[in-house]
Amino acid sequence: MIRPKTDLNAEIRRLKSIDDLKRGGFSFTGYESDRVYRVEKSETEDNTVISLRLEKRDSPYVKKWDRLQDELVMQKAIVEGGLSWGAFSGENLVGVALLEVRHWNNSLHLHDLEVMPEFRGRGLGGMLLEKVLETARDQKARVITLETQTTNYPAVKFYRRHGYQIDGVDLSLYTNDDAKNGEVALTMKLKL
Ligand SMILES: CC(C)(COP(=O)(O)OP(=O)(O)OC[C@H]1O[C@@H](n2cnc3c(N)ncnc32)[C@H](O)[C@@H]1OP(=O)(O)O)[C@@H](O)C(=O)NCCC(=O)NCCS
Repeated sequence: MIRPKTDLNAEIRRLKSIDDLKRGGFSFTGYESDRVYRVEKSETEDNTVISLRLEKRDSPYVKKWDRLQDELVMQKAIVEGGLSWGAFSGENLVGVALLEVRHWNNSLHLHDLEVMPEFRGRGLGGMLLEKVLETARDQKARVITLETQTTNYPAVKFYRRHGYQIDGVDLSLYTNDDAKNGEVALTMKLKL
């Protein structure tokens, strides 16, 4: 059992079913970011460039998740896969790392990592990521992958501090105009 190196009396435990989230009072909320990456692309026959430039915003970008039913179905299946972790403060579930193994390319996908807002910045995210790494090693995965957004600079910074790097940019994962709308999907990876 892992105990966080924080002031919190919390522990990291395996999640068994999606009901653990409800029972523990966990909900996915979202994030805020005072910086975002502006994405630019130029494409010619002999040179294609996609660039990410960090810019400060006048007011924070606020993201609230809008969970669709098929996302909930996916999360249920992932938790039932048996590799996911929860950060518990007593019986309250205050953080989750939902993990899915992908055998076809020998990767471990971090489908969701979230700590409830009042518990952020106290080491739980780092403790959950340690468990993610341990799980990847147990599974003998070659890489850990995750999707984040150009609008989530705190998450990019957090993952970088733990050794992850931006490894992919998908210019149309959410809509056909993601760059214009200011939110583009980034793949980050930690190669083992
Ligand atoms: C990204 C996230 C999981 C990190 O969890 P966390 O428990 O805050 O992580 P930690 O406390 O281990 O580390 C956060 C870092 O930010 C700093 N920090 C300080 N105050 C903070 C705050 N209010 N919120 C977040 N981070 C804060 C911490 O000092 C720490 O820095 P360090 O690594 O140099 O010590 C969490 O911020 C979160 O749930 N965000 C919203 C959901 C999200 O964006 N998930 C990732 C999407 S892919």
